[in-house]
Amino acid sequence: MAAMSSQSLPASSLPAQLTERVQAVVGVDPEMRPATKPQFGHFQSNVALRLAKSEGRPPREVAADLVARLELDDLCEPLEVAGPGFINFRIKSEVLAATAEALLADDNDGIVPTDAPQRVVIDYSAPNVAKQMHVGHLRTTIIGDCFNRVLGALGHTVIPQNHIGDWGTQFGMLIEQVHDEGIDAGALTLDEADALYKRAAARFRADEEFASRARARVALFQGGDEESLAVWRQLVEISKPAFNEAYRRLGVLLTDDDLAGESTYNDDLPVLVDELEQSGVAVVDDGALCVFVDGFDAPLIVRKSDGGYGYATTDLAAIRRRVGTLHADRIIYVTDVRQGGHFAQVFAAARKAGFLPDDVAAEHVGYGMVLGTDGKPFKTRDGSAATLSSLLDAAEEVAAPNIALAAIKYADLSNGLQKDYTFDVERMVQTTGDTGPYLQYAHARISQILRKAEAEGLAGGAITVLDEPAEQQLALLLSRFGEVVSEVGDALTPHKLCGYLYDLAGAYSSFYEQCPVLRSEGEVRSSRLALCRATQKVLARGLYLLGIDAPERM
Ligand code: ARG
Repeated sequence: MAAMSSQSLPASSLPAQLTERVQAVVGVDPEMRPATKPQFGHFQSNVALRLAKSEGRPPREVAADLVARLELDDLCEPLEVAGPGFINFRIKSEVLAATAEALLADDNDGIVPTDAPQRVVIDYSAPNVAKQMHVGHLRTTIIGDCFNRVLGALGHTVIPQNHIGDWGTQFGMLIEQVHDEGIDAGALTLDEADALYKRAAARFRADEEFASRARARVALFQGGDEESLAVWRQLVEISKPAFNEAYRRLGVLLTDDDLAGESTYNDDLPVLVDELEQSGVAVVDDGALCVFVDGFDAPLIVRKSDGGYGYATTDLAAIRRRVGTLHADRIIYVTDVRQGGHFAQVFAAARKAGFLPDDVAAEHVGYGMVLGTDGKPFKTRDGSAATLSSLLDAAEEVAAPNIALAAIKYADLSNGLQKDYTFDVERMVQTTGDTGPYLQYAHARISQILRKAEAEGLAGGAITVLDEPAEQQLALLLSRFGEVVSEVGDALTPHKLCGYLYDLAGAYSSFYEQCPVLRSEGEVRSSRLALCRATQKVLARGLYLLGIDAPERM
């Protein structure tokens, strides 16, 4: 395991330190902006202009006053007042070098472990037994995996919960269909089970006799009928390897240890529902047991009038276990945005019932749809709704598997999660533009330079000189990595990490264009090579956090 970060690494980036120190003296947010030209230093603030207005004094005078009061000699070159009263800040080159060098030496790549570690349950993936995983499951699996990696890197204890749909009324018709067709459910592939599901569903709609048998079967099966349970078990058992195969293909961290399907809550349901009724949190309304929560049109039904339990009851039981047994401090759900209302109501009901104390956070992270280039929900070439594997196949038709995967994951994570995104493989696999393969390519290019340097016996030294503007911009950006990761962990916004890595790759390109590395000499060369290593490290770690592989060659 990586050791804790080295002593010398400050908890915040250079821009953040600067902001904090100026604010401490000035009393308001200096609103630091990156300088528009290298001759203006690195950052510029208009704080004097703002203060001048409220104080009714000339802005340049206010600026000069502030400059005299700010003690930033350890961090910045002497401050300058520019134009109508802007203050220009230039970070000292030795500070930039020392910061980049500390990052290079840090086992945790500049990620600062939280001082308040939490137990974080992440509910993601959750495919349904006897059904193919579809594009929605692709998104929840990729997004949840990224949260898992980011929160883990920040020192939280992540407890993934794969709430697979392995229970429910659909098993009534599935079991009847298996009986009618006389097939061995244990020998089906997931594709075949999916087809069986579709045949059963079609018959359920069209054939009243079949439908009533299916309903009777639900009662039998949920009442513990051994023969029904045997078929159910077979369907579950053939589904799991197929889910695992998808996880292997996607390169995500989920394992069987994370499985906590709906069926695992069965025994809790009657107990929980009784409790709710006893305490008066749930009341009978029109035969159904309901929890009324303010702000929702309809109540949350915890026991249907026929005595059955549904999706919502299981979710309440899941919260109870996550808080009571798993001791979660924070619970994150990654599903389709359309389930937002469901979770808002379940959280409110759980708070009312006392299952979810105020100090435990519950967050629903909704994601949008995957669209085809025609702007409609993505379909496979033959026009059927896309399965997860058909999507992966489509991407692998135009790129090697690790690049195809990078393309898909990056496209999925780099927009706001709530937004729909267009599955345009041709664009997504490009190695130019804002794509996953572009970042992989940047990483491979740096690796190539470092390989060359090694072959030429140019052993890497330390980052000591950083005099060129492009070197300095790169170092400044590197110093922000830890902060970005913390922010993504708090706000669950992977697109911020994508944007950061994209900027980093861009800053590296500018540096590479403007500052010869292998063709420079002495300390400048060894310092630039070390800067390349620091960039490689941050890119690789950043890609890892997105679940994307960082190839050494491409
Ligand atoms: N199985 C559900 C689906 O495929 C998602 C379950 C999400 N998690 C939960 N706790 N309800 O849509």
